[in-house]
Amino acid sequence: MTRRILVTSALPNANGSIHLGHLLEHIQTDIWVRFQKLRGNHAIYVCADDTHGAGTMLKSEQVGVPVEEMIEQVRKEHVSDFAGFLIGHDNFYSTHSQENQDLSELIYTRLQAAGLIFTKTVEQLFDPERAMFLADRFVKGLCPRCSTDDQYGDNCEACGATYDATDLKNPRSVLSGATPVLKGSEHYFFDLAQYTDHLKRWTKSGAVQPEVANKLAEWLDEGLKAWDISRDAPYFGFVIPGTTDKYFYVWMDAPIGYMASFKNFAQSNNISFDDYWKADSTAEVHHFIGKDIVNFHALFWPAVLHGSGFRQPTRIHTHGFITVNGTKMSKSRGTFINAGTYLAHLNPEYLRYYYATKLNGTVDDIDINLDDFVARVNSDLVGKVVNIASRCAGFITKQFDGMLADQIDDESLWAHFTQASDEIAEFYEASDTSKAVRIITALADRANQYIAAHAPWTMIKEESRREDVQLVCTQGINMFMSLAVYLQPILPRMAQASAEFLKVAPFTWERAQTPLLGTPIAPYQPLFTRMETSSVDLMVEASRASTSAQPGDATEQTPDDSTISIDDFLKVDLRVARITAAEEVEGADKLLKLSLDLGDHQREVFSGIKSAYAPADLVGRLTVVVANLAPRKMRFGVSQGMVLAAGPGGEDVFLLSPDSGAQPGMTVR
Ligand code: 2FM
Ligand code: ZN
Repeated sequence: MTRRILVTSALPNANGSIHLGHLLEHIQTDIWVRFQKLRGNHAIYVCADDTHGAGTMLKSEQVGVPVEEMIEQVRKEHVSDFAGFLIGHDNFYSTHSQENQDLSELIYTRLQAAGLIFTKTVEQLFDPERAMFLADRFVKGLCPRCSTDDQYGDNCEACGATYDATDLKNPRSVLSGATPVLKGSEHYFFDLAQYTDHLKRWTKSGAVQPEVANKLAEWLDEGLKAWDISRDAPYFGFVIPGTTDKYFYVWMDAPIGYMASFKNFAQSNNISFDDYWKADSTAEVHHFIGKDIVNFHALFWPAVLHGSGFRQPTRIHTHGFITVNGTKMSKSRGTFINAGTYLAHLNPEYLRYYYATKLNGTVDDIDINLDDFVARVNSDLVGKVVNIASRCAGFITKQFDGMLADQIDDESLWAHFTQASDEIAEFYEASDTSKAVRIITALADRANQYIAAHAPWTMIKEESRREDVQLVCTQGINMFMSLAVYLQPILPRMAQASAEFLKVAPFTWERAQTPLLGTPIAPYQPLFTRMETSSVDLMVEASRASTSAQPGDATEQTPDDSTISIDDFLKVDLRVARITAAEEVEGADKLLKLSLDLGDHQREVFSGIKSAYAPADLVGRLTVVVANLAPRKMRFGVSQGMVLAAGPGGEDVFLLSPDSGAQPGMTVR
């Protein structure tokens, strides 16, 4: 039966440009959707800009463009960027739409009627000059734990503490510099706790990946709190029904934006909204998201949907973050790459392919190593896949008038290509494109081996072997076709050009099952060109030049030799550890062997502190360990990390100790 599948990617914020991070998600989703469509399923892919909130309101003030005009400009830029990466959204809408307002009001009134909404007075920091309540990122002050200045209202970048904005010492408004005052205001809450048991069941139903289910179970076991869904004026958003100055918090109406974008699409495409969203719908709804927004999608969202009588998502597909060359995307290094900058230098299918080789359906982070990027694309796509067509097509065109032979030369080899179909499809279905690609490139290797073994370029020199040349090249072209079909979800443009070259209708998945025999092909045109390292270098340079610091960005300077960058520093994983055992090491006059408890595991470290400490004095103490130091093999055993100590040596060695309250396993920053 044809599946009816509604698919979404997370809605990008309307106050910034699309970058490589967004593209990971949209490319992953797009590959999945294209795969479903190629298989003959009825898939609809919708998205929208996430427009509401204080951030959008303030950005519009800053750039001096009325907010509705600004969000429409941004939406157009986003649409064009995504199109540039061949992302086939069926609709890219806006959360600032009539459909979204209607649905948000409907959902809210149903929740209210079901007794799921209550109000409570909340005390919050208020900027008396701007006459507005301050969201956490609009307040700065001294960290209540370590007293570092200039920390935002939710957590400290220096020590990692999390706290309420009201705990900051010497708070000031980022907007006006004024000292905020505490002020009470009535807020609207969604009583999420009523859904605890329901969510415990739902999160174990296969709707999320197992590692996500484990994380959610931790939150569910800690107990759910009611969710504050209102914000006070001034705010850019929808007014809550029955109030004049309370607005839906942006995270309330953002996921409803998925429904609204679909509704907008359904209206003009003769599709029933209810068919997809009624409580007992048999259609599927799939959300692709990053791991930072799992709580909104796998706790609040299903509860809100269930509470308001709508169906819940079929599956939430969660992915990890990206790093470039092993570290966070960085403006100073030129690795904070916007979609537009990439497209000015490189073919979008390079990135689509590279991401596909890395995505495996888990929440693992993904690194884009720029050298590996170039090598992988060139060796797999140009060197293996396209090479098959380019080696065979010339003979067919020049020697056989463009006609393929009317039989398959090596049936058993061809069977490898047709039989791979189900396994490849299973990996696509599971979003494990890295395994799908591995099978496809292994098939490409076999095809190249077959062509090299028969060497049509040698056979053609003997008149008696002309027919064999046609057979070998026909087999080669068919193996290429099969690979182009399997790669179509990842490389739609290359696949389309291949279908034209093979003079067949746009591919379906089944196309890979039946060889083309006795039919004409078009003269070969390059289907894919090599990626140049120099273009990557130019893109990095352009990214360095174009990304000027935005308000709210951490200030960053290019590191010189005497300093390290924050990215370098963040590579060092410093952890609190408890020394659970300490002993002398036979034959070593400086070393002690320490057993450390890091919260979730134990390790052994050799430390040169014997001259300063008796083993018994160390047991039970907390210290700090470099936890991601590669294990070192020493004469006495393997040391798994390094404990930190100060001092010149000898008896003057002082082991670092965290303050009381620290627990083994905590990150030190
Ligand atoms: O994290 C973000 O960028 C949000 N704008 C995602 C919203 S997804 C959905 F729920 F709307
Ligand atoms: Zn701090």
